[in-house]
Amino acid sequence: MNRILITSAIPYINGIKHLGNLVGSQLPADLYARYQRGRGNEVMFICATDEHGTPAELAAAKAGKPVDEFCAEMHQVQAEIARGFRLSFDKFGRSSSQRNHKLTQHFAGKLAENGLIEEVSEKQVYSHADKRFLPDRYIEGTCPNCGYDSARGDQCENCTKQLDPTDLIDPRSAISGSTELEVRETKHLYLKQSALKDKLDGWIDTKADWPVLTTSIAKKWLHDGDGLQDRGITRDLDWGVPVKKGDQDWPGMEGKVFYVWFDAPIEYIAATAELADELGEDDSFWQRWWRTDKGAEDVRYVQFMGKDNVPFHTLSFPATIMGSGEPWKLVDYIKSFNYLNYDGGQFSTSKGRGVFMDQALEILPADYWRWWLLSHAPENSDSEFTWENFQSSVNKDLADVLGNFVSRVTKFCRSKFGEEVPNGAYGPAETELIADLTAKVRAYEGHMDAMDVRKAAQELRGIWVAGNEYLQAAAPWAAFKEDPGLAAGSIRLSLNLIRLYAVLSAPFIPDAAATLTQAMNTDDTWPDDMAAALDILKPGHAFAVPDNLFAKITDDQREDWQTRFSGTRN
Ligand code: 2FM
Ligand code: ZN
Repeated sequence: MNRILITSAIPYINGIKHLGNLVGSQLPADLYARYQRGRGNEVMFICATDEHGTPAELAAAKAGKPVDEFCAEMHQVQAEIARGFRLSFDKFGRSSSQRNHKLTQHFAGKLAENGLIEEVSEKQVYSHADKRFLPDRYIEGTCPNCGYDSARGDQCENCTKQLDPTDLIDPRSAISGSTELEVRETKHLYLKQSALKDKLDGWIDTKADWPVLTTSIAKKWLHDGDGLQDRGITRDLDWGVPVKKGDQDWPGMEGKVFYVWFDAPIEYIAATAELADELGEDDSFWQRWWRTDKGAEDVRYVQFMGKDNVPFHTLSFPATIMGSGEPWKLVDYIKSFNYLNYDGGQFSTSKGRGVFMDQALEILPADYWRWWLLSHAPENSDSEFTWENFQSSVNKDLADVLGNFVSRVTKFCRSKFGEEVPNGAYGPAETELIADLTAKVRAYEGHMDAMDVRKAAQELRGIWVAGNEYLQAAAPWAAFKEDPGLAAGSIRLSLNLIRLYAVLSAPFIPDAAATLTQAMNTDDTWPDDMAAALDILKPGHAFAVPDNLFAKITDDQREDWQTRFSGTRN
């Protein structure tokens, strides 16, 4: 049994995420977690809400609520939607937890002890109109690298270059639009990433198996321009983790908090500790996942995220871990994603463009979305959601291929043999199918192990198709008149196929899989041996005909949704 630690990038607290966010981190992470559990491995799957920073403060102000109250409420909202999408986190934590406060301060203290923190007096942008220092991402302007006119002061979302606000051409406040900005002196802490550059570079070089998307972004940060830059890790804000060295005050840093990107990845660890607290377990419970001196040396740690998160996870967070000098677990594999676009443009939270997670669940159950999103995951390039494509995938793959197979087999059996597995032998056609499925399932496992999400979806669909083709050729409805024993054999096999489909499909479409497992009145052990797996439901085994698994999306529905989601959400 392997032990697998899985983290999904933690979504910001300030609003409900869109489907593009979902497919770039939480959903593929869930797919992988469910698959690994299905294979009998021990999994710890962690996500959380990312609750600090100005976006949270501003969203709370807009909602007219104290920021802590706002975060507590939004956490519940996001947790509920996550349950709706069947995201099977072992813990959905909160970066504002006391565990994260303590751990973040601990890391900062260790980094300082190791000479990796520098105190820098710097000039920061103060907005007179907004009466506050403007954090980097609340200053907008033109990117000096690519010329994009809405680059943020921390990063250009067009070319992914990390920026300082003073790099921007024609800067303005993103809060008020005011250009009445003044640069003022303030003291901040910097993490000396440059001192760790060679170590990070050497470490990335050992990751030849990582997706090119991941390593190319890391290498760009390490080598482009002046190479890896030191990173400011504190901010002049009220809401956040107070700057401390372990549990000691940090002279000169009173009233400041750590930068949201410093404490957010530490929350992966802290959330596991939050789970331990919730379960009444002691520290060894979470340390065996995170401390290589406490049992984590044989853990495989995989992270899922969108490409804009890659620099922080390949460089900044590893710099924190390495720089601490303590035996914390480093990531083993980073699966990163491109962007999903929406109907000819970008999904956008700020502009309210596209379909948001809550809206999606209002119109269709989770499985429909999960199937489309995962089978079209933006792995090798950006991909696009269109309603036509969504309708056609759902109708063909889920309704015609999988749903129809289940319905034909179970209904035919009920009418000819009753609601129990009939007694019939397997012959050459079944032997051939078993061999074909053995190869296909091994390929499916290979793609799932490699986190090749689209290929895995395609292979799974191929497995469903193989069953349909087998059934079409065996034609038990025709064979029944001449040779009921033959028909019984192919129906027995087909009922076992339904069980097989439930097990294999569960990571993609957990609700349909659960319906099938229940209807087939069976368990969900993984088909390591195909001949045995297709012989689990024995003659006489009782089953029930499940309700229609998937309803087709009609043209009217599609047009209706197309119109409803063509504008922006307010
Ligand atoms: O991009 C985002 O949505 C960030 N909230 C991701 C943070 S991931 C991590 F560092 F925890
Ligand atoms: Zn740019």
